[in-house]
Amino acid sequence: MVQINPSILSADFARLADEAKAVEGADWLHVDVMDNHFVPNLTLGLPVVEALRKATGTPLDCHLMIEDPDRWAPGYAEAGAGSVTFHAEAATAPVRLARELRRLGARAGLALRPATPVEPYEDLLPELDMLLIMTVEPGFGGQRFLDVTLPKIRRARRLLERHGLSLWLQVDGGVSDETIERCAEAGADVFVAGSAVYGADDPAAAVRRLREAAERVAGRAGAGETPR
Ligand code: DX5
Ligand code: ZN
Repeated sequence: MVQINPSILSADFARLADEAKAVEGADWLHVDVMDNHFVPNLTLGLPVVEALRKATGTPLDCHLMIEDPDRWAPGYAEAGAGSVTFHAEAATAPVRLARELRRLGARAGLALRPATPVEPYEDLLPELDMLLIMTVEPGFGGQRFLDVTLPKIRRARRLLERHGLSLWLQVDGGVSDETIERCAEAGADVFVAGSAVYGADDPAAAVRRLREAAERVAGRAGAGETPR
């Protein structure tokens, strides 16, 4: 199933509750947590996530671009995030952490930077609910989509199929009207979009357009016309 998750990184931080409402047709609200260590940018943390959870009925998809997620990620599950994604490059004990997140009632996600291969994580996949393949270097919104990540999305989709796993496959970075079809063709089913949604005059309409484009491709793939 296609899901569209607007990233509030491109929203107006002084009006987050209104910005969440502006995309109420979205499946999840993507919340980018950056600590200025794992990535060279600083955004928001637990207090803002707690406040957002109270301000919107849309579930929160927290993407933690932080060092030491083993220590900090469970707090986001406790704060009520429906999904908590940590980076493979930063986690010390990813299996233990994924189990802890699930125990706290959140979906557990593992994120890979563009240059991090998926194959070393093959045996961990059953511990996860989502795999996030970054399609830009994490740290900033509004960057250009990296086509070099497409083969990895295809390989990840094949791994999931081979193991009969129902994990969601998320892409994040540079996803727009122009690039979403390529991602969907490669096998992604959860699409994060920041500037393409909040940079649009009508964010809700942008979400609908992205969904239609991804669903068109997914429909074709379902009919067996688009080989992955
Ligand atoms: C980048 C963040 C993304 C970002 C995407 O490091 O993880 O979620 O908000 O923004 P766009 O869609 O503008 O590339
Ligand atoms: Zn993100």
